[in-house]
Amino acid sequence: MVKRIVKYSQRLNDLPPYLFVKIDALKEEKRAQGIDIIDLGVGDPDRATPPHIVESLERAAHNPLNHRYPSSEGMLSYREAVSGWYAKKGITLDPSSEAIALLGSKEGIAHLPLAFVNRGEKVLVPDPAYPVYGIATTLADGRPISMPLTAGNNFLPEIEKAPTDVKLLFINYPNNPTAAVADKEFFKSIVDYALDNGVIVCHDAAYLELTFDGYTAPSFLSIPGAIDVGIEINSLSKTYNMTGWRIGFAVGNAEILEGLKKVKSNIDSGTFQAIQRAGITAMEGPQDTVEALRTVYAQRRDALVDGLRTIGWQVERPKATFYVWAPTPDGAPSLEVAMKMLDAGIVATPGVGFGEHGEGYVRFALTVSVDTIEDAVKRLERVF
Ligand SMILES: Cc1ncc(COP(=O)(O)O)c(C=O)c1O
Repeated sequence: MVKRIVKYSQRLNDLPPYLFVKIDALKEEKRAQGIDIIDLGVGDPDRATPPHIVESLERAAHNPLNHRYPSSEGMLSYREAVSGWYAKKGITLDPSSEAIALLGSKEGIAHLPLAFVNRGEKVLVPDPAYPVYGIATTLADGRPISMPLTAGNNFLPEIEKAPTDVKLLFINYPNNPTAAVADKEFFKSIVDYALDNGVIVCHDAAYLELTFDGYTAPSFLSIPGAIDVGIEINSLSKTYNMTGWRIGFAVGNAEILEGLKKVKSNIDSGTFQAIQRAGITAMEGPQDTVEALRTVYAQRRDALVDGLRTIGWQVERPKATFYVWAPTPDGAPSLEVAMKMLDAGIVATPGVGFGEHGEGYVRFALTVSVDTIEDAVKRLERVF
């Protein structure tokens, strides 16, 4: 008998399959059957990175000084650009200790629990949520404790019901997948809870800039006391259509960032400096592309929301993100609805994939044109 060599660790076996990998496989299966697919599944911006950012990378890539190992915390000039970007929001940060570069926000989120969570310690994770908060907790041998986000609580966790013996708490507004937004009062209740119970807060602000109809989303760090308890993780992926570049940043409490930095410095060797240069250009350069992006997503949102309402779906018009969180027709199970959609050539993400409280919803990503969205609505009308 051949000896079994490959045995996965318990922590790896404990992980659910990464949702989008599974959906990708099903999508490819349908494509192989010749079905023309409209992909409203993964939140991957369809539009190109603005040309001035690409040109900045091109220039920086020619400079041999950028060809060496970067520092894992990021160049000071990059951290200064991040601080400058926050200064425009009225938030003052010390670039030397209160800002670090990330290889995308996913990387920072995934590494954070390793710095703070001991075996079995509790980490509060919203449900439904971007899957990485729970997965990163499991990888650090921590215990994810779910905070339900429901229509009844406006998709804001009821922090007064949360346990108090907690190490770390993840929140995310504007929210994926529910597209909900949080006001400063909510953030203040999180700061109070964290101060009272000694809990570290990580606010994932990946969609902070993607807001509509004149609404501006507050930064967690705009709350007095927030910097004493937490960090905000942000990304250039969505704001500047730079998903493939893998660049983001974490800002806030210096001691928390120090912990994250220590983990990172032992695992990664930082973001390619030429990409950091391009990131500086993105943050310090003209911001009209961001405004144009908001207009594009708002038009797509309206096309989808109006279309779905016309065919009888009861959906809210979100104020932010590029998602629409739609209750399934007659509360049908989300996986069933997503499979029915797939047969009609539409990929949307079943809510249950984001956690048990996502059941009864599907998430549409607004990453295709208005025309394609209108086509998708016509297809939906035929099957529902
Ligand atoms: C809520 C949320 N956080 C973080 C990320 C990761 O973004 P990135 O790693 O590209 O910065 C995503 C990506 O979809 C997201 O939806």
